[in-house]
Amino acid sequence: MLSDLGAAALRRLEPETAHDFAIAALKALPLPAALADDPLLATRVAGLSLSNPIGLAAGFDKNAEALHGLSRLGFGFVECGSVTPLPQPGNPKPRLFRLTQDRALINRMGFNNTGLEAFAAHLSRRPAGAVVGANLGANKQTEDRAADYVAGLRRLAGLADYFTVNISSPNTPGLRALQGRDALDDLLGRVAEARTTAAPVFLKIAPDLTCAEIATIVEAALAHRIDALIVSNTTLDRPSSLMSGDRDESGGLSGAPLASRALAALRDAAGAGSGRLPLIGVGGIGSGLDAYRRIRAGACAVQVYSALIFEGPGLVERIKRDLAARLRSDGLESITEAISAGPLTER
Ligand SMILES: Cc1cc2nc3c(=O)[nH]c(=O)nc-3n(C[C@H](O)[C@H](O)[C@H](O)COP(=O)(O)O)c2cc1C
Repeated sequence: MLSDLGAAALRRLEPETAHDFAIAALKALPLPAALADDPLLATRVAGLSLSNPIGLAAGFDKNAEALHGLSRLGFGFVECGSVTPLPQPGNPKPRLFRLTQDRALINRMGFNNTGLEAFAAHLSRRPAGAVVGANLGANKQTEDRAADYVAGLRRLAGLADYFTVNISSPNTPGLRALQGRDALDDLLGRVAEARTTAAPVFLKIAPDLTCAEIATIVEAALAHRIDALIVSNTTLDRPSSLMSGDRDESGGLSGAPLASRALAALRDAAGAGSGRLPLIGVGGIGSGLDAYRRIRAGACAVQVYSALIFEGPGLVERIKRDLAARLRSDGLESITEAISAGPLTER
């Protein structure tokens, strides 16, 4: 509760300043350990055992510097990054906007981060017991983008429990073009060659893709031994329902207005994969029901970011409690059973 009050106080600050304070607080405060998870919530993603399916999405801890604090908030896994080989400042500020009325954010951060060496040093001091993923990006100036993902994979081998190849951030010009079949085959072929450890590699895609494009990505992912698909990143779409003054800022939209689009993309991926490729659902998840709906649509885990800004870190425990209650009331004994039960019928 105290931390939710802290989050409310932070929302009075300019969004990026608030983010920097949150990271500083997570590094400095002696947080109590999270409660033990309800065994019903245990799940597996591509061989990784998670005590619960609620993860922190990439972009909050870009430099892997607050992992000790984050590991105490009750997440089943934490994804840090995106990290690029070289440090880079990202886009000019302001570049993060809070659309409070819409429970949404728009960001055009542009992969601001302190680079691979600092990231590796932080990861080497990561907390024991936490499941930590490293989300890999490409520097803005790099011509051979695939080489940047390969560099990330090589430098961080043995330091992360899984890797995410992020080709879906809208704020690095040309990055999303890597989702096209030829570019993707080249990238994923080189990623497959660079793998030296058993750590699974995930691919994170945009929600702004047609069903046919998603089907093509699923086939490419399977052909190149990608272990799971993360669906999805932020959207370039601006739903007409947006009410906040900053709705026309350029960048990626996340939070509540992304939920239906991200769910639709997840369903497309589930249809194309037919159980062959594990899925992680992300985008607009802010409640136990949202998480449950993604799991019933085929996700073995989910991730959250924007809703934490509006609700505070206590949201993680609330989502888990509500999700467990929903599984029980539907007579389901595990996340796997919930996936097998098929899509939740909308009422
Ligand atoms: C400020 C901000 C920065 C982000 N940075 C990254 C990033 O570096 N890499 C990445 O893969 N996704 C990044 N994301 C996208 C999130 O990981 C997530 O996919 C997206 O926000 C949708 O989830 P949400 O609606 O729960 O926020 C970022 C999102 C926000 C709001």
